[in-house]
Amino acid sequence: MMRLSLVLALSLGAASAAGAAETLSGGSSTVTDAGREAYSRPSPALTPERLPEFFKGRGLFRQSWVIPPAEDIEIAGLGPLYNRISCAACHLKNARGKSPDGPDDDAGGLLIRLSVPGRSENGGPRPHPVYGDQLQNHGIPGVAEEGRVSIEYAEFAVTLADGETVSLRTPKIVLSDLRYGPLEGDVLMSARVGPAVYGLGLLEAASDETLLDLERRSKRDGIEGRVNRVWDAASGRVAIGRFGHKANVPNLPQQIAGAFLGDMGITSSLLPEENCTATQKDCRMAPSARRPELAPEQLDAVVLYVRSLAVPARRNPDDPEVVRGESLFREIGCNECHVETLQTGRFAPLPELSNQTIHPYTDLLVHDMGAELADGRPDFQAGPREWRTAPLWGIGLAASIAEHTTFLHDGRARNILEAVLWHGGEAAIVRDRVKGLGKSDRQALLRFLESL
Ligand code: HEC
Ligand code: HEC
Repeated sequence: MMRLSLVLALSLGAASAAGAAETLSGGSSTVTDAGREAYSRPSPALTPERLPEFFKGRGLFRQSWVIPPAEDIEIAGLGPLYNRISCAACHLKNARGKSPDGPDDDAGGLLIRLSVPGRSENGGPRPHPVYGDQLQNHGIPGVAEEGRVSIEYAEFAVTLADGETVSLRTPKIVLSDLRYGPLEGDVLMSARVGPAVYGLGLLEAASDETLLDLERRSKRDGIEGRVNRVWDAASGRVAIGRFGHKANVPNLPQQIAGAFLGDMGITSSLLPEENCTATQKDCRMAPSARRPELAPEQLDAVVLYVRSLAVPARRNPDDPEVVRGESLFREIGCNECHVETLQTGRFAPLPELSNQTIHPYTDLLVHDMGAELADGRPDFQAGPREWRTAPLWGIGLAASIAEHTTFLHDGRARNILEAVLWHGGEAAIVRDRVKGLGKSDRQALLRFLESL
C-alpha cells in the first residue's frame, strides 16, 4: 500500500512539475520517433555493448525459417506443424496483429488456442488429445496441416446517447479441412491476435509486489482485477503471469520459446520436444534440424531484442483537447484498469530497465470483461471472461505503423471507439459513461488516446 501511494504521489508531482516527464512513456527507454520504425528502436538506455546482440535478435525475429534438412542449420527447424514462418509475419513492425477482414481473408496474425475442460498437470489448460493446444494451419511436406481457420462476422449496431450509431462485429471461429479428425465434444477455443511487442521488458521489470499492490488497491465502480498465477517452466514453480492476453505466461524467455515452438515448430532448450501429439505419427517421424533447433544464444538474442524495444514518446500532450480528454479518461474511470504510472523494480536480467517511472496504461491484472468478450476458455487462474488489461502506450501510432486499426484480443474492434464499446463486465459502468458522452467530449477522449 505504501509503495503504491508513493508511486501515485510521484506521478502527480512529475505531472505538475514538468509536463515533459509525462511524455516519457517508457522512462529512459523512450524514443521520440513517430515514424514507421517507432516500435522497433532499441531502448536509448541500452549499453552500447549490447547493440550487436539486439540487432542479431532483430534479424532472427524477422527471419523466415526453413524446413530441415537445410544447408543453413542456423535458420532451419520450421515445423513439422506451424502457423507462420517468422515472428514478424504476425508481429509486423512489432505492432498489434491484424485480424482477418472476413471469411475469405487468410487468418494472418490470428491463431486459435485449443483445450478440453480440466487442467494439465502444471495447472494450465488441458491440451486437446489430438490437436494439442493450438491449431497449426501449416505442415511441412509429408505432414498434413491441422486445418483451416476462418472468421465470420455478424454486425450489430450500438446507439450512443447523442444519437450516433456504431456498428460492432462479433467474430465466429469457423474451422474446416480438419485433417486429424473432427473436433467434437467439449472443445474450448480462443482466437487471438498478437499484442504489440514494444516496452515489454519494462512490464517484465515491474516487480511482483507492484502487481500484488495493484491487486489489493481499492478501486471504484466495483472494479477488481487479479493477478494470474501460471507455470514457470524454467524454475518449475508457480509464478505471477504477465504476458499473453490472459497474463498466461510469466516472463519473456518462456513467452518467446513458446512462440518458437507453438507458432513455428522450432524447439529450444526451454521447450525441447517437437510440437506433435501422440496420434500425429507423421509429425513425430519428421526430421528435426538439430536438438534443440534454436541455439541458446539465438533464444537469448531474441529475448534481448524484445526486452529492450523502446516505447514511443507521447505526441502533443499539451494540446487543449488532449488535456481535456485526459481528464475525462480519469473522471470516467478508465485508469482504474489502464493504470497510468508504474515503477519498475530492480531488474537483474537487464539492469538498464530498473527503477524507471513508466506510463504503460495497464495494471497487468486480468479483469472480467463480460460475456460478449468472453472466450469461455480458462487459462491457469484467469477465468473464461477474463482478459489482461491491454497496455495503451503507443496506441496512437498504431494506424500509421501497422496500417490497420484492429484492437482487442481477437482484433474484432476496427478502431479505438469500437474497442471501448466492447468493454463489459467490470468495465460496463465505465463503458456506459462513454456512451453517454456528447460528441465533443467523445472526440476529446479519443484525441487523448491517440496522443499516447
Ligand atoms: C501465428 C502468429 C504468431 C507468430 C508467428 C508469433 N506470434 Fe507472438 N503472439 C501471437 C499471439 C496470438 C500472441 C498472444 C498469445 C496469447 O494470448 O496467449 C502473441 C504473444 C506474443 C508476446 C507477448 C506479448 C504480450 O504483450 O503479452 C511476445 C513477446 C511474442 N508474441 C513474441 C513472439 C516471437 C519472438 C515470435 C517468434 C519466435 C512470435 N511471437 C511469433 C501471435 C504470433
Ligand atoms: C475493468 C477494467 C477496464 C476498464 C475500466 C477499461 N478497460 Fe480498456 N481494456 C481492458 C481490458 C482487459 C482490455 C483487453 C480486452 C481484450 O483484449 O479483449 C482492454 C482493452 C482496451 C483497448 C484496446 C487496446 C488494444 O491494444 O487492443 C482500448 C483502446 C481501451 N481498452 C480503452 C479503454 C478506455 C478509453 C476506457 C475508459 C472508457 C477503458 N479502456 C476502461 C480493461 C479495462
